[in-house]
Amino acid sequence: MCGIIGIISTKEVTSRIVNSLKKLEYRGYDSAGIATLNGGNINEVKCEGRVDTLEKNIQKFSLRGEIGIGHVRWATHGRPSKANAHPHSSEQVSVVHNGIIENSTILKKHLEKKGYLFKSQTDTEVIAHLVTDYLKKNSLKDTIIKVLKKLHGSFALGILFKDREDLIVGARRGSPLAVGYGPNENYLGSDSYALKSMTNKISYLEDGEFCIIKKQEIEFYESEGKKINKKILNLSQGAISYDKGDYKYFMEKEIDEQPFTIQDCINEYVDKYNREINIHNFPWKISSLKSLVLIGCGTAFHSCLVAKYWFEKNTNLDVTVDIASEFRYRKVNFKKDCLYLFVSQSGETADTYAALDLCKKNKMKTCAVVNVVESSIARVADLVLPIYCGQEVGVASTKAFLGQMLVLYILTTKIAYHQKYITKKDYQSKIKNLLSLSNSTKKTLSSENNLINIGKVFANAKGSMFLGRGYSYPIALEGALKLKELAYVHAEGYPAGEMKHGPLALIEEGMPVVVLAPRDEHYKKTISNMQEVIARGAKVLLITNKNNDEIISENIWEQIAVDKFDDELTPFLITIPLQKLAFYSALEKGYDIDKPRNLAKSVTVE
Ligand code: G6P
Repeated sequence: MCGIIGIISTKEVTSRIVNSLKKLEYRGYDSAGIATLNGGNINEVKCEGRVDTLEKNIQKFSLRGEIGIGHVRWATHGRPSKANAHPHSSEQVSVVHNGIIENSTILKKHLEKKGYLFKSQTDTEVIAHLVTDYLKKNSLKDTIIKVLKKLHGSFALGILFKDREDLIVGARRGSPLAVGYGPNENYLGSDSYALKSMTNKISYLEDGEFCIIKKQEIEFYESEGKKINKKILNLSQGAISYDKGDYKYFMEKEIDEQPFTIQDCINEYVDKYNREINIHNFPWKISSLKSLVLIGCGTAFHSCLVAKYWFEKNTNLDVTVDIASEFRYRKVNFKKDCLYLFVSQSGETADTYAALDLCKKNKMKTCAVVNVVESSIARVADLVLPIYCGQEVGVASTKAFLGQMLVLYILTTKIAYHQKYITKKDYQSKIKNLLSLSNSTKKTLSSENNLINIGKVFANAKGSMFLGRGYSYPIALEGALKLKELAYVHAEGYPAGEMKHGPLALIEEGMPVVVLAPRDEHYKKTISNMQEVIARGAKVLLITNKNNDEIISENIWEQIAVDKFDDELTPFLITIPLQKLAFYSALEKGYDIDKPRNLAKSVTVE
């Protein structure tokens, strides 16, 4: 998290740095800052809060310069404040940083002994002083090589030097960093979105590399200072635009976009005439696969959990699901006949990337399901399956979750047929169902419900629970996560059958509980579990399928019935009311829906 931008040009850069920071705000938004070089001086403007506030402050100070760096922060060391906002500057240099310097306390003590004074509580400030210190006895390039070796942890850095109005230094270890090429100007950015309005030509730094960016050229180096060449990539233009259109919130727009993003994804993968799935480029023999490990974080982890049910039902693969931050630090018994599959919207999540890197180092087969195809994870995995849902801006993931599930379902179906675990008839019937998924999603979105009022109850509750069995269990986890993220209400997702082993003690009079009970094989059991929570005073919102027989309404507080659809694809439909529930609950509270407190869209720290 945290967003970095740097521009060196023959024209003024301040307003463009601010515009890029606005695009990077999804990476962090608790404070922001900018530094430019002008007439041999480092000029800084910083503030707590959003880029809009920064922009107003910049106008007051009439900040100028043809070279500058900017930052949006997601606090790691030191609370959000003006003093802790980046850039952090010494007399000589100014630094923006994304990541965590793990040995900053030791480095700080050492620098303080040498007389350096610290103005912030951040780990980043040590970099500014360390660079200043090394510059006394070393060339600029040697300083960078030596300083990077001193730093433990992860970082993407942008550094300005008071006496060098002709260059910006960028460096990467663990956190993503891109450079962009323009006419008589060049750029540094945390990702390609920040650079897209200025250029579509970019290169990515790999771990351990650094670069020196000048107006007319960019030099790249590996960690020992040996010059290297970089491939220049042409950025793809996303199909779905970045603005909110008629919507007040990106999240609302992104929820409504889902039928279209699903259709776009299906168009990419499904040949509707021949009823075939177009994934032909497997870099390994599918028949050689015996097991599958699905790895992700947050919402992406939930999509992996749903996929476990699909893979186990339709293939003979042995399937496990892992949280990336756990996987990467456990002793893993790597297996040659296993596919390690990484799911990530951003493709930049530090833990997911590290888990992938670990698999690559152990020479495992890897596949990535990502939204951002230029991302670090996409660049490293053996096989990349994009979800094609366009940029997702709302920090709480919605359309990307459906996109991840969709690609995982498509992959399951392909492998299932390839393994001859399902017949051709079943394969084609699954494809037929997929082809009507977009329409079913559209109907679910447009059906009448009372979610605005239901949201008011959840928003004001002390706590809540989300229950489900089978595919609906991971969806319950996702529904609870959405409510936590957006409405800051304690919400617990639980397997409905597990309630009696403890969580039932939490149920008290009036507690809102979501019960996900589509009419699948688990329906009756889940309804029994629902009665158990009702008997203890819970206010139940039942999400089920429309059906004429045995309508149960007794004691149920609210019901939402989505159309009956293929059981395997029903998770897509029952997710939608949960997204809206979280949205309306946050709206009731007046919270910042697109940028919930303490969170960020792309988490590039571990
Ligand atoms: C952050 C986001 C979540 C997301 C998670 C994983 O926590 O706020 O919405 O699910 O990161 O992100 P990824 O980009 O790897 O899917």
